[in-house]
Amino acid sequence: MSETQHVLSLRGIRKNFGRIEALRAIDLDIDPGEIVALVGDNGAGKSTLIKIITGVHPPSAGEIHFKGERVRFRDVRASRARGIEAVYQERALGDKQEMWRNIFAGREVTRFLGFLDIAEQKRRSETLLRGRMGFTSRAITVDSEVGGLSGGEKQGVAIGRALFFDAELIILDEPTMGLSLMETEKVLGFVRNIRDRGKSAIFIDHNIFHVYDVADRFIVLDRGQIVGRFRHDELTREQLVERMIELHRAGQVA
Ligand SMILES: Nc1ncnc2c1ncn2[C@@H]1O[C@H](COP(=O)(O)OP(=O)(O)OP(=O)(O)O)[C@@H](O)[C@H]1O
Ligand SMILES: [Mg+2]
Repeated sequence: MSETQHVLSLRGIRKNFGRIEALRAIDLDIDPGEIVALVGDNGAGKSTLIKIITGVHPPSAGEIHFKGERVRFRDVRASRARGIEAVYQERALGDKQEMWRNIFAGREVTRFLGFLDIAEQKRRSETLLRGRMGFTSRAITVDSEVGGLSGGEKQGVAIGRALFFDAELIILDEPTMGLSLMETEKVLGFVRNIRDRGKSAIFIDHNIFHVYDVADRFIVLDRGQIVGRFRHDELTREQLVERMIELHRAGQVA
């Protein structure tokens, strides 16, 4: 394999839905410890791209390489098993369950004959909550029902869970949707945790201010194509917005 191994490499990814070309020849590399923002207008193909990465849809053409190996994920389970975890605004967690059940949903710790090791799961949840996630509120415990958490805290648990299970690549599709300013700040803090732990993330958010603050790199998608690639340190926030508008206009006349 190459000297600097990418976490993820996409080569010539296309996706057609009938006659709609949702994605056209996408090439993209993500490095370890990188937060990459995927930005673009409604319908640009952002969600479609992450659904291809996570195995929701097969690509119509092209290759996906994960940690240097060609992969073809049949479903979300398959991508998850390899270390790709997606976090969405909705569906992040089940509201009616206690926190510890949520953290282990789908990968319960069993002792023998499939009996759940509840004490062990609670212990690990506690470590995750206080240690890795930095939850300080004593009102929130592993026994708290998730429904009682704020939107930002729910996102935090979802991201924390992904880190806890050693996801290499965490995909966030609009994790701040519908959250207040304070809650959003919390979520952005949790996103920074991902980089601090040397893991990578693809971050989609309609609010350019959110992505600007946390991303190392910006990938601009427009009508199924990558039309711009920028590093955080080469543009101010205002310049990024200007460039996105210019690129979109250029695409319309082309
Ligand atoms: N399952 C599907 N069947 C048919 N067309 C689809 C499907 N999913 C997406 N599309 C189409 O593909 C294009 C890209 O959609 P996508 O959801 O990826 O955009 P997006 O960039 O995530 O937009 P938004 O910012 O609104 O979430 C759109 O034209 C959309 O209508
Ligand atoms: Mg979308």
